Amino acid sequence: MHRQKLIGIIPGDGIGPEVVRLGRQILEFYRDKRGANLQLWELDLGADRFLRDGVTYPEETAARVKNEASAVLLGALGDPRVPDNRYARDILFGLRFGLDLYANVRPIRALADRLVPLRDRSARDVNMVIFRENTEGIYVGVGGQVRRGTPDEIAINEDVNTRRGVERLIRAGFEYARANGRKSIHMADKSNAMRDAHELWYRCFFEVASEYKEITAKHMYVDAMATAMVQNPSQFELVVACNLFGDILSDLGAAFQGGLGMAASANLHASEPSRVAMFEPVHGSAPPLAGRDLANPFATVLSVGMLLSHIGMPDEEKRLESLVVRAIEEKKCTPDVGGTMGTRAVSEWVLGELGHAFDR
Ligand code: NAD
Ligand code: IPM
Ligand code: MN
Repeated sequence: MHRQKLIGIIPGDGIGPEVVRLGRQILEFYRDKRGANLQLWELDLGADRFLRDGVTYPEETAARVKNEASAVLLGALGDPRVPDNRYARDILFGLRFGLDLYANVRPIRALADRLVPLRDRSARDVNMVIFRENTEGIYVGVGGQVRRGTPDEIAINEDVNTRRGVERLIRAGFEYARANGRKSIHMADKSNAMRDAHELWYRCFFEVASEYKEITAKHMYVDAMATAMVQNPSQFELVVACNLFGDILSDLGAAFQGGLGMAASANLHASEPSRVAMFEPVHGSAPPLAGRDLANPFATVLSVGMLLSHIGMPDEEKRLESLVVRAIEEKKCTPDVGGTMGTRAVSEWVLGELGHAFDR
């Protein structure tokens, strides 16, 4: 790697800083010990900052991220002191929408049999990737409230779906399947109820599918898919869905992997891999766990793996995943995945083993 890569780091709120600490240390390891030409840039954004000076996601910061950064690592945002979550949406959607990161890629892969909570299923049965549309849908914030607080109140959030937005996400799914040897794609929609918005998804899915003859395209209503995922997860290799359904299905899928502490994600402008991308654990700030050394850092470690792959170090993604597999096997992990160690002790173990991996 020649040109220096700027990596933004937003620890965020709650357990965010506790898990991102290890993420940052891993990046420092590659910078200091492996010659990776990285510049790490920690951003003071989140609830504390908002409560201190009202700043959410300043324009200058957004511009530097957009024009100079190669990647951003985000912990999580969300704090009970700010119940309306506005600052968190400014930052999270500032990144996802502002950088046009239209593909939220959420791998669901179980790294050990004992993490799979489904009866008679093992890790072999859980290996799918969710492609969640990440810039449209119900998330765009078009809507409003009228006569708020009265019995006549009206509350509206519009579901916005554009042909361009739907098609590029579906296409990203097919391209990924083709590049990674996945033989089938399922699309989850609700075209039986949402006759307009999801009829577009349905039509677009099969139109795009006709260009990828080697990949089997299957449609399911999202409610039926939720049942099918639990009953027979191994039938799913790749799932494409709108923003909201992708959000829900990915938390369901996280349960198959051992919980939210294990689920990693990438937010990509998939058609141009050289553009800045954002990486984050799927979980949130988990306020009840914060400050208790209980947070599982592996979702963040796996997200850092995806980040390293994005900036041209794909072998390191595999190395970090193998490390997590071994940690789970050897019970070097937090209680949510059957261990007895704290976040800090697990982090030390990971850093120690990462160092040894290169001594051998
Ligand atoms: P959450 O993911 O924060 O936590 C749900 C539960 O999952 C926790 O109580 C905990 O039992 C478990 N969990 C999550 N992460 C874990 C980890 N690393 N290790 C061990 N257990 C873990 O979801 P929530 O409680 O619905 O949301 C809390 C806050 O986080 C809210 O403000 C929400 O809006 C926000 N949130 C932010 C993001 C983000 O920044 N990307 C994502 C999801 C939720
Ligand atoms: C996620 C989160 C966010 C989302 C929230 C915090 C707005 O649940 O990243 O999955 O719904 O996208
Ligand atoms: Mn979510």
